[in-house]
This record gives sequence, C-alpha cells and structure tokens, in this order.
Amino acid sequence: MAETHVIRLADVRKTYSNGDIEFQALRGVTLDINAGEYVAVIGPSGSGKSTLMNILGCLDVATSGRYEIGGEDVSQMDESQLAEIRGRRVGFVFQQFNLLASMPAWRNVELPLCYAGVGPAERKRRAIAALQDVGLGDKVNNRPGQLSGGQQQRVTIARALVTEPTLLLADEPTGNLDSSSAREILDIVDQVHRSGRTVVLITHDRDVAGRADRLIEVRDGRILEPNKAALAAAVER
Ligand SMILES: Nc1ncnc2c1ncn2[C@@H]1O[C@H](COP(=O)(O)OP(=O)(O)OP(=O)(O)O)[C@@H](O)[C@H]1O
Ligand SMILES: [Mg+2]
Repeated sequence: MAETHVIRLADVRKTYSNGDIEFQALRGVTLDINAGEYVAVIGPSGSGKSTLMNILGCLDVATSGRYEIGGEDVSQMDESQLAEIRGRRVGFVFQQFNLLASMPAWRNVELPLCYAGVGPAERKRRAIAALQDVGLGDKVNNRPGQLSGGQQQRVTIARALVTEPTLLLADEPTGNLDSSSAREILDIVDQVHRSGRTVVLITHDRDVAGRADRLIEVRDGRILEPNKAALAAAVER
C-alpha cells in the first residue's frame, strides 16, 4: 500500500492518573494526516493539544486506540522501539528552547546524531549545514546565551531537522517570541514544509494557523468536525 498517510489515529484516548484521580485528556481522536501536509492545531488551553502532540511524536503512548506512523503500528511498542521511531522519523520544536547553555550552537545541533551513532566529523558537518539552512551559518560557535530568542529557536529547528525526519512537530514554537522573530520562525517552518516534510504545529494564534493547509481544532479532548465554520459560512452565502 502506498504510504500516503504519515499519521493515522483511530479512536485514540489518553487518561492521566494521579493517585486515584483520573483525567481524560483525549476522548477518542480519529485523524489522518497526509505525507507533506502542513496541519495547524488550535484549541483552548487544557484542551489536549500537547497531549495529542506527545502521542504523535511517540513521547507518550495512548491509553487506548491505534496509532500508525509511516505505516508502522506504534500503539503496542515499548520504550526502546518508540525511541528508535522518534530518532528516525520525528523532529520536535517546543516553546522552551531546551538548549544546553554551555555548548556552542553546533554542539547542541549535533546531539541527536550522537544518539543515532553518527561519527564526529559527519556530525559536525551536518550540524553546521543544518544551522546554515536556518540562516545561522555565522553563529555556529555562539552559545545559546549569545543568541537572541528567535535565533535560539532557529537552533532548535536545526536540531530537530539534523536527523532528516519526515515529520516536524512544533508545540507553540513562537510562544516566547516577539512578532518579528515569530514571523522568521514561521517562514522557516514554511520552508521546511516546502522541502516536502509533514508539519504539525500547535498554536494559539489563528494568524499563524492561516499558513497551514489544514486547521484542526481540539476541544475537551476531541477534534471538532472539520471546517464547520467554513461550511456554515458557505451555506450562508
Ligand atoms: N501528566 C499529567 N497528569 C495529569 N493531567 C495532565 C497531565 N498532563 C496534562 N494533563 C491534563 O490534561 C489536559 C490537557 O493538557 P494539555 O497539556 O494537552 O493541554 P493543551 O491543549 O496543550 O494546553 P495549553 O494550550 O495550555 O498548552 C489538561 O487538563 C491537563 O491538566
Ligand atoms: Mg500545550
């Protein structure tokens, strides 16, 4: 079967348990995302967006339901198998940069390649190339503290892409940035999408969401019917 769907979720549920208190963060999510698609995820705080993202990125597992990534069923995988999938398929960008302060940019970017067992010379070459791709070719030796917020976020994008994943997941990547740095980051995300990667981006900002091919709205752990508002508007016309 041709691999048109990078992501297939079928009735995915996630229940968090703290002692005897349970909370259903995802209540039956069914969703396909096509290869090369750019999907924006919106929804109120606490609706389950990050929970969904963590499952998509194999950082966490669903309580029930089925999840396939690139045709592989990951719902039943153990932690080491999930780690392998993450390393091979997924790049993450978060609101917090999570960069190592004592290391120059290129060392931060090469880290995922260390885990992947790539040799030192190749790691450095690829890390510098990834930094050049995000416009930081002249900052490879700067430590995070010597970079602006927008530049630090570009380093994290380089780090996410250095392993050449097919899927880029971004959870509020512009949340800590001023509007002009945010635009720069979104321009880079657009570029990543144009290069053929699948992008899933969580945002609170509908303007940000306007750049995507598709908008998914999460409410109370469920995905709202697609394009309801658009349909209603079309009917009114
Ligand atoms: N580890 C956890 N244990 C218990 N409850 C959790 C845990 N993680 C998240 N939750 C709860 O699950 C719900 C969804 O959380 P999630 O982080 O997915 O929301 P979100 O849509 O990303 O919100 P935000 O926009 O504020 O980032 C929230 O009510 C949250 O309190
Ligand atoms: Mg969140």
